[in-house]
Amino acid sequence: MLDNLDRLPPDPILGVTAAFRRDASTKKVDLGVGVYRDDFGITPVPAAVREAEREMLAQQTTKTYVGPAGNVEFNERIVEMALGTLARDLQDRTATIQTVGGCGALRVGAELLRASNPQAVVHVSDPTWANHEPLIGSSGLTLQRYPYYDPATRRAAFEPMLDCIAKLPAGSVVLLHGCCHNPTGADLNAEQWSVLADVIESRGLLPFVDLAYQGFGDDLGSDVVGLRILARRVPQFLLAISCSKNFGLYRERAGALAVVTRNATAATAIATHQARIARRMYSMPPDHGAAVAARVLGDARLRTLWETEIAAMVARMKSLRALLAGRLAARRPGHDFSWLTRHRGMFSLLGLSEAGIAELRDKHHVYVPPDGRMNVAGINETNVDYVAESVAGLIA
Ligand SMILES: Cc1ncc(COP(=O)(O)O)c(C=O)c1O
Repeated sequence: MLDNLDRLPPDPILGVTAAFRRDASTKKVDLGVGVYRDDFGITPVPAAVREAEREMLAQQTTKTYVGPAGNVEFNERIVEMALGTLARDLQDRTATIQTVGGCGALRVGAELLRASNPQAVVHVSDPTWANHEPLIGSSGLTLQRYPYYDPATRRAAFEPMLDCIAKLPAGSVVLLHGCCHNPTGADLNAEQWSVLADVIESRGLLPFVDLAYQGFGDDLGSDVVGLRILARRVPQFLLAISCSKNFGLYRERAGALAVVTRNATAATAIATHQARIARRMYSMPPDHGAAVAARVLGDARLRTLWETEIAAMVARMKSLRALLAGRLAARRPGHDFSWLTRHRGMFSLLGLSEAGIAELRDKHHVYVPPDGRMNVAGINETNVDYVAESVAGLIA
């Protein structure tokens, strides 16, 4: 036992961080990580989160278990943040469980789908976040890809996407990024969400929306316009929510899986399955992060403070996008870099070849994962010229 397991290759994204750490160059730039960073390269704890933590710790009287479904207030508030007033309309038909981050929500969702139909096929975007396929696939479900991105226009390839999804058999699961598509940064507009919602509804498909970046695109409301269009149109869907990025709660592992069903009976049944899945995998979620997020959302002053803090992060990412686009345009006249400011969230694909990515790393000490995904939050006023200079000659 245990002697038969060979060493695995490094995780493609975590491997980039490790290589970056080993690089002794003073010029090195890490554009690979999947976390927000400020001008000083720090991933901050929002002041609203700190305050909520202080209050909570002062008032906490016990650390007994929270129960498999987690913090009920958190579950309600986080779903309301995603769905707005619709959350109340759908309340009786919704089963929500607090999860171990957004990853936990995706995994519990996958286990639930498998319990419901082991033959279910989950269709993910091509490309998608590197962890989607391992997370969902390890539940035993089959995965397939639908076209999503057009590298030539650097936009969502909406027609091919729709064409593929419109041919899927009823009962197929379609995994969608709620906003700030990872890794492309190319989102659907409201009209496209509406057309997609019609197709999903008329074909009897089941949407599974991964909402990991609410607030990071434009703002908390604008980022979920598409999700809410979909939620109004389809009879049932799954929603995986992460509080890692927008609350800065990464290591606290706060998230939720909301399952909207056809009726209250189905929701009650789903809740029992969610609890059983959690019980069998990790029993109960951690308390801290979700309790803090619930407090921030439930306190008008903390919520306003937090929204101001997210707005500042978004403004910074947008200005970095504009800054880099400007510096690239100065080095490559006649070349269109408007995609950089059009994309939403932290990520854009640089569109480099494998050799280009290697050159970026080995010659310029600029690190991105193998798919060429750049995290714009890794740029700052000090390194933007260097990044532009390093990348300009490599972009096709
Ligand atoms: C697209 C996407 N979904 C889900 C997650 C899950 O995040 P976490 O489990 O850290 O909450 C991430 C994190 O990087 C992500 O990028």
